[in-house]
Amino acid sequence: SDIEKGTYPHFMLKEIDEQPFVIRRIIQEYQDENDNIKLDPEVREAMKDHDRVYIIACGTSYHAGLVGKQFIEKLAQVPVEVHVASEFSYNMPLLSEKPLFIFISQSGETADSRAVLVEIKQKGYKALTITNVPGSTLSREADYTLHLHAGPEIAVASTKAYTAQMAVLAILAVDTAQAKGLQLEFNPLSELGIAANAMEALTDQKEQLEDIARTYLSTTRNCFFIGRSIDYYVGLEGALKLKEISYIQAEGFAGGELKHGTIALIEEGTPVMALATQENVNYSIRGNVKEVAARGANPCVISMKGLDQESDAFVIPHVHELLTPLVSVVPYQLISYYAALHRDCDVDKPRNLAKSVTVE
Ligand code: G6P
Repeated sequence: SDIEKGTYPHFMLKEIDEQPFVIRRIIQEYQDENDNIKLDPEVREAMKDHDRVYIIACGTSYHAGLVGKQFIEKLAQVPVEVHVASEFSYNMPLLSEKPLFIFISQSGETADSRAVLVEIKQKGYKALTITNVPGSTLSREADYTLHLHAGPEIAVASTKAYTAQMAVLAILAVDTAQAKGLQLEFNPLSELGIAANAMEALTDQKEQLEDIARTYLSTTRNCFFIGRSIDYYVGLEGALKLKEISYIQAEGFAGGELKHGTIALIEEGTPVMALATQENVNYSIRGNVKEVAARGANPCVISMKGLDQESDAFVIPHVHELLTPLVSVVPYQLISYYAALHRDCDVDKPRNLAKSVTVE
């Protein structure tokens, strides 16, 4: 069952492996009998009727929001801002004329996000909650809900909820584009199917990823994650996963920012994880990898088939360039998992963290 580990040593590993099935379930749940997108018409109207989207979230859900912004802006041509819930409360930005708020929350119970929801509802604004728990507080108090269908997520470090959030956001973005009459080449349901197959292929390559964890992360004190464009956001999530469960100090940053500070931290043997899944920035990220290697770093490049080079540590299958985060995060999840195991950490219940933080 969903709340038992079965043959798995940890919930986190089980939940990583469930991801392709979760994506396939989302495709089914959001597809009508003619293979078109099926989405609550009220949500469609709300997306069409508002002039700007404000995504509010915390932690991993915030990282899904950063990718969601790319989907909604690129596909639906609606401007999007993404805010960490706690900061939004102190520094509310100047809002557009007709703002729509999207709360992304696995649990639907996060207090920081709830505080923003209460505040914006008082001001009379509309809210959509994207959550794994439809009866949750954030779902009940919002005007609309989209369900993640990921099944219970037990491990503190979020994995399948993150990929589910991005899948639902991709579907939402295309639905909005269609509602606005925009012509798109991109069919999210079939592209998500391809991504699910790619994710499944990766969960069969655990030994290789365990080797990477052992080689790069068994004794290090720190680790950097670099990427450009959408790969940058996946790097932020990769760094969060690693610090949450292995306690290695990890930082994700944009490749172009290296020279503006972080490169000062590179020493002999510092592990630097780099993603190369985007054709338009492949040349530049490869340049960053050379820069850190020249200063003694130990770069570990994870690239996408078609953009790969001989020296890359790991290659993910080819998927649509917008959906690479669903696939490229899987090696990061597994590398973090094995790094934590090798360092004797409690993978499912890391110190000082809670699955759902219901205090501000
Ligand atoms: C906690 C969890 C994180 C999660 C964050 C937001 O800090 O440990 O894994 O990303 O809350 O949770 P939510 O349920 O709102 O997505």
